[in-house]
Amino acid sequence: MNNAERLLVVDDDQSMRAALYESLTSCGYEVETAENGADALVKFKAGQFAGVVTDMRMPMMSGMDVLRGIKKIAPQTPVILITAYGTVNTAVEAMKEGAAEFIMKPFSLDDLEFAVKNVLAASVQTNADKAEGEENSNIYPIKEIITRDKKLLAIMDMLKNVAKSKSSILIQGESGTGKELFARYTYRHSNRRNMPFVAVNCAAIPAQLLESEMFGFEKGAFTGATVKKLGKFELANGGTLLLDEISEMDVQLQAKLLRVIQEAEVDRVGGKMPIPVDVRIIATTNADLQYRTAQKTFRADLYYRLNVIPVVVPPLRERNGDVNLLAEHFIKKYSQVNEKKEPVLTDAARAALKSYSWPGNVRELENVIERAVLICNEPAIDTEYLFPENTGTDSIVKKNTQPEEEMIMPNKSEQNEKASTLYEMEKNMIFETLNKFNWNKTKAAKILGISVRTMRNKLHEYGINDLSPEEK
Ligand SMILES: Nc1ncnc2c1ncn2[C@@H]1O[C@H](COP(=O)(O)OP(=O)(O)OP(=O)(O)O)[C@@H](O)[C@H]1O
Ligand SMILES: [Mg+2]
Repeated sequence: MNNAERLLVVDDDQSMRAALYESLTSCGYEVETAENGADALVKFKAGQFAGVVTDMRMPMMSGMDVLRGIKKIAPQTPVILITAYGTVNTAVEAMKEGAAEFIMKPFSLDDLEFAVKNVLAASVQTNADKAEGEENSNIYPIKEIITRDKKLLAIMDMLKNVAKSKSSILIQGESGTGKELFARYTYRHSNRRNMPFVAVNCAAIPAQLLESEMFGFEKGAFTGATVKKLGKFELANGGTLLLDEISEMDVQLQAKLLRVIQEAEVDRVGGKMPIPVDVRIIATTNADLQYRTAQKTFRADLYYRLNVIPVVVPPLRERNGDVNLLAEHFIKKYSQVNEKKEPVLTDAARAALKSYSWPGNVRELENVIERAVLICNEPAIDTEYLFPENTGTDSIVKKNTQPEEEMIMPNKSEQNEKASTLYEMEKNMIFETLNKFNWNKTKAAKILGISVRTMRNKLHEYGINDLSPEEK
């Protein structure tokens, strides 16, 4: 697996390119960048790449053209598309053309890392067609769980014990508490660790696509399905499937998922025969699933089926002893990444970290430290480097009073510096366009290439809900 970690990133936008470069590099990949499609194809031919990440909207050659070009040169290489105003149509078209994955803006760096890891893991598996004996977890850097908290240590112990069984695990906890980390930890301690670990983010994939993502489709299942596509269940066969943000799965699909779990077989879309699968399921959610079942937006039978082994990860504010431990861990990490001499924390900084409520949990702490390490050129990090402006923390604190809102992607991104820029960019563009068209949402949506429904959702996220009835 020599070249398994080399990635080609294609984006015409310089700052986006830099952000992608930086974040993927920090995840341990070797990254080369190209500023347009032609440049990308030249570089791709010259070097060996494990995968390609390309923006969709670019002048001259679009991401779709890049995808087609790559598929001609090396059909096995996975291509991830970043769609700006990802309409379902573009996504469906991209999948048909063989895109391995698409990420919709705004996305957090975690989403990106997650997508890349999974796509590479799946591609290594299908390419080599040697599911057995392959140390899958080796292809991406293992992130240790850093903690001295009794509750967390007990969870780790428990997970280690149940790792070997096939029982479903439901991990609940606020955003950024480390749910995915615990899922991977379980996988590493299972005897399925040599088999694939595949993840599906149920919130990031539009409902219309999620079914074929999970269960795959047959050639000819629908217009344009020119090749058959394996679903994540089949890709995870023998291994572990992480269903991330399961609360966001629509109710109809929940019924199908339940059937798959009960029968241990999947039906590809357009398929005639069910295909047996042996998959261990770990689901995560930051919504209160039991509450959702009472609300009838989550099937109670599926909830019980998933909740065989319940895990609740406590928020960071409830494990105060971990704050400074994690802070020091991240200082070390980001000093190394940025090739800086490791700063210490002043006493005031330590106290400030400890007394803050961390609504974004460990992810937020990591972002705060990453930024502090970057901007601080002194031997000690003081409070002002941690919380330079009150504005950011205010909005995060406010968010915390509405726990249900936490699962919405843009909020998640707000906790992330770089993703927040993307989020802002999108928001600005939507407002600019709306202003240009006197707030005629239909026209603005058309110009932006998004559906009115998406526009309405976006505005809702921004706290604007005054849509007139004729726009429905
Ligand atoms: N105990 C920990 N030690 C080290 N890193 C941690 C720990 N907990 C979380 N992290 C880091 O914090 C970030 C968020 O963790 P993770 O993605 O597992 O959270 P999550 O609960 O799945 O969040 P979300 O609900 O938003 O998906 C990751 O970068 C992860 O590596
Ligand atoms: Mg997660």
